[in-house]
Amino acid sequence: MYFYALMDLIIRNIGFIAGTETLPVEYKAGINMSDLGIVRNGFIIVRDGLISGWGRMEEMPSVKEGDYRIVDAEGRCVLPAFCDSHTHLVYAGSREQEFVDKIKGLSYEEIALRGGGILNSARLLHETSEEDLYGQSMVRINEIIGQGTGAVEIKSGYGLNTEDELKMLRVIRKIKETSPLEVKATFLGAHSLPEEYRSERNRYIELIINEMIPAVAAEKLADYIDVFCDTGFFTAEETDKILKAAVKHGLTPKIHANELGFSGGVSVGVANRALSVDHLERTGDEEIEVLKGSGTMPTILPGSAFFLGLPDPPARKMIDAGLPVAIASDFNPGSCPSGNMKLAVSIACIRLKMTPEEAINAATLNSAYAMGLSKTHGSVATGKVANLIITKPVPSVSYIPYAFGSDLVETVIIRGRIIQKL
Ligand code: NIG
Ligand code: FE
Repeated sequence: MYFYALMDLIIRNIGFIAGTETLPVEYKAGINMSDLGIVRNGFIIVRDGLISGWGRMEEMPSVKEGDYRIVDAEGRCVLPAFCDSHTHLVYAGSREQEFVDKIKGLSYEEIALRGGGILNSARLLHETSEEDLYGQSMVRINEIIGQGTGAVEIKSGYGLNTEDELKMLRVIRKIKETSPLEVKATFLGAHSLPEEYRSERNRYIELIINEMIPAVAAEKLADYIDVFCDTGFFTAEETDKILKAAVKHGLTPKIHANELGFSGGVSVGVANRALSVDHLERTGDEEIEVLKGSGTMPTILPGSAFFLGLPDPPARKMIDAGLPVAIASDFNPGSCPSGNMKLAVSIACIRLKMTPEEAINAATLNSAYAMGLSKTHGSVATGKVANLIITKPVPSVSYIPYAFGSDLVETVIIRGRIIQKL
């Protein structure tokens, strides 16, 4: 990957720009998710890493030759870079043996009960140095940049003891310092109960509350607190307790809920003013009611439902009920070993019956909201950070999720810098 020096840019002759906003909103909900702000035959001006103007070619202001690097899009499509508001991409090794076990009939829960799954990754992470973990994670970071991601949230949760959780969060901090991406960090000590606490769950919850959260807050290592509130993991009551303790330390909740069962996590998340509740494979009318008007972003992770063969989250029903929906990848070694947001968008269209416009809004603006970034990221609006994708030549926006196996991301621009894919 090669980063060009920061230079002001004019992208001209854009076949269509997706994701434009004249009056930026924090997120799009219900029927408004169908509006992708498409502008045909357009231009975008980038100054000092920010979008300083956009419009139709005939309105393009004349500028002094030489002040800008001119990029001729020759009819290609430009869209906002993806915002991936839910990943676990800092991990050690991989778990393809469990992939094979699943093919042969074991479920995610059965693998977890045998000490596999998250605990398997925790063992691997424990044996891996901070430096090695950073190196392995940067390979994934460079991969997702090439796939068009411009902002990413990354969770801890494969440490499951204070020292290893802090190790993960320090790796996330180093990624933030060394990659061009906008990075948000989430503390997920309550990802799984470590083996040694099996008969005394309360002691682990006390450890999270009394030791881990204060340590994470003291080093300012996280923006968010997450809990895996689900069958076989943490209960709604435990989640409530952990969220309340973390909020006192300045962490905002974002939780995993209803992946494996009706966990009650949606209500607990909303009651604790969570920024997002994520997964939602099992979501009924009651949860939809709770989410209405809450400010909590329902976030679906189409890649993990697909990979694990879970019921599909009712995204269509949520949008038809007037809710917003965000899409994230869930990039992790157990339930979605891919951070490809374009693929997540395709799965959302193919399986969840979201339209291409809805799915792209969900993976850009709404996912930016779910990581506290929608004022600066997630759309093509004057003043926002210039995080953009220029696609290969495509005939329409719908073609992007339709060609689900094609890499259509030709050029990625992050903070106004063109990133050359090697
Ligand atoms: O979001 N659900 C919990 N956490 C991840 C899976 C983590 C793993 O299996 O390593 C998820 O699916
Ligand atoms: Fe997850």
